[in-house]
Amino acid sequence: MSDFVRIVEVGARDGLQHEKTLVPAATKIALIDRPAATGLRSIEATSFVSPKWVPQMADNHAVMQGMARLSGVRYSVLTPNMKGFDAALAHRDQFANYEVVIFGSASEAFSQKNINCSIAESIERFAPVADAAKAHGIKVRGVISCTVGCPYEGDISADKVAYVTEKLVAIGAEHIGIADTIGVGTPRKVQKALEATLQHFGIDEVSGHFHDTYGQALSNTLAALELGVWNFQSSVAGLGGCPYAKGATGNVATEAVVYMLNL
Ligand code: HMG
Ligand code: MG
Repeated sequence: MSDFVRIVEVGARDGLQHEKTLVPAATKIALIDRPAATGLRSIEATSFVSPKWVPQMADNHAVMQGMARLSGVRYSVLTPNMKGFDAALAHRDQFANYEVVIFGSASEAFSQKNINCSIAESIERFAPVADAAKAHGIKVRGVISCTVGCPYEGDISADKVAYVTEKLVAIGAEHIGIADTIGVGTPRKVQKALEATLQHFGIDEVSGHFHDTYGQALSNTLAALELGVWNFQSSVAGLGGCPYAKGATGNVATEAVVYMLNL
């Protein structure tokens, strides 16, 4: 087990994206700046997605402009296509350490519901994003949703996780996050999904992103640590959910992960 863990705080993005009431940009900025002040070194700030699909993230430019830009912190934003990447690029120069996230799915049905295209089409859309990011010195993180279960398809096999991992790696993803989007994973199930990804990618750039619907997220985090995984996404106060994954509850709480990791 690694003696160091890197956490990406996703509260301001995953934590808020499904909130029905629009959260003011100033509150989102506080939710980015305050965790950064605690020593978290990676923060997911917002999404450059369609405001019609996710109205809560429509203030992405205001958030990016208003937040602190600490040189020791890597800030990441979701970019599902070139339109999103071009919008994210407007902020490139303000961040020493900038990352875009391309987010695919191991489930065809979830891919359609979440980003309105098939898995194959999503890879075609992500490829130019990855190329452009690299050309601008921006890191490319891939995330795969529904790696254990899907709200539309039910159980997801590890083969599908391996397949999407291979595709994302082929187009240049530099990191693969394994997401249990609806929190149906158990320790052994998430290990199988992680093992599928580890067939194609080294342990140092594979992460766990666990939602906590059945109270398994902390156990799943420990199960991932036991495989040697040391990168995780979590959310302060366990905020989180996805507008296209009904029933999904929050992410594992950042403070719970930190508490568990202390000797
Ligand atoms: P689409 O409708 O197929 O896109 O949406 P399109 O290319 O056909 O364009 C239609 C309209 O959207 C056009 O505008 C475009 O300009 C606009 P119009 O001419 O009609 O006025 N458009 C955009 N606007 C802003 N930013 C963009 C963009 N792209 C097109 N980037 C799209 C495809 C991906 C955009 C849409 O499906 C979308 O925005 N989906 C939202 C997905 C999302 O944010 N989901 C939640 C995050 S993923 C998640 O939470 C899971 C994760 O936490 C891991 C886990 O737990 O599993 C990461
Ligand atoms: Mg999530």
